[in-house]
Amino acid sequence: MKNKTVIVTGGNAGIGYETALGIAKLGATTYIISRDETKAKAAVEQLKAESHNLAIDYFIADFSSQKSVRQVAERIKQKLTVIDVLVNNAGGVYPSFALSEDGLEMTIATNHFGPFLLTNLLLPLIEKSSEGRIVNVSSRSHYRGKIDFESFTKEKGYFVMKAYEQSKLANVLFTSVLAERLKSKNITVNSLHPGVVKTDIGKKGTPAYIRWFWSMFTFLGGISVEDGAKTSIYLASSNEVKNVTGKYFDLCKVKEESALAKDKNLAKQLWAETERLIQSS
Ligand SMILES: NC(=O)c1ccc[n+]([C@@H]2O[C@H](COP(=O)([O-])OP(=O)(O)OC[C@H]3O[C@@H](n4cnc5c(N)ncnc54)[C@H](OP(=O)(O)O)[C@@H]3O)[C@@H](O)[C@H]2O)c1
Repeated sequence: MKNKTVIVTGGNAGIGYETALGIAKLGATTYIISRDETKAKAAVEQLKAESHNLAIDYFIADFSSQKSVRQVAERIKQKLTVIDVLVNNAGGVYPSFALSEDGLEMTIATNHFGPFLLTNLLLPLIEKSSEGRIVNVSSRSHYRGKIDFESFTKEKGYFVMKAYEQSKLANVLFTSVLAERLKSKNITVNSLHPGVVKTDIGKKGTPAYIRWFWSMFTFLGGISVEDGAKTSIYLASSNEVKNVTGKYFDLCKVKEESALAKDKNLAKQLWAETERLIQSS
């Protein structure tokens, strides 16, 4: 990946860190986006040491805040002239209902609205690549996901997993519309399930019972972060997928998405509602 420029969101920890490491080892100029400067600096130093690639740097953004996403997009546009690969990896779980500063439920704000806005703002730079790629880290949780537009802004029987599943379904629906829109350009868009991966995602800000459940769940059936990053690295770099777009991957193979994820009308409705809520916030 020499001469390629890659951005990995949430690259300071977990699957994102390992994805950035794998990509940096392939020689790409690699940027991570982190919400915390101290964590970002430490991750960049560690990435440089582990990859022996010095072309690694960071940007700061909080994906739950549209203002922050707009600011980082501006900084990226000032610094870079082209983006070859954008890996939308940052994501989280929220144990209880809360609204973002834009009036959106935090899970959908962070996991869907943030990457939706960032990707659209960075498209002019991705279009400058001879072979642009957008990789959206979804989850097999999307199979249980449903879209309830009212829940984007109102509390309606909030449950942590329901909100997470909805946001991960939104990642697959976003992928399908964006891939369609970019068909005439040299940009592919794919989504993926990384596996059940031993990261701290279920332990951040969650109550003890969720932390315990997440530790047991990943201890019994989880894979390492190195293995969890493989599908993201594959989609970001492999020649095998350079012309593949609009697909959902699991273990580096195309897999059928859920029936709802294939619903073109729902995908278009989600796109329109996301744009409407971004404009009105
Ligand atoms: N682990 C799994 O089994 C699994 C399974 C399926 C899908 N996934 C997906 O994989 C992706 C990575 O998750 P992970 O397991 O590697 O979790 P993780 O270790 O918690 O890493 C998540 C990354 O996203 C960042 N992030 C979270 N909220 C953010 C925000 N508001 N603004 C900016 N950055 C934010 C985190 O930053 P901080 O370090 O500051 O928290 C971290 O860098 C997520 O999209 C997740 O939904 C994970």
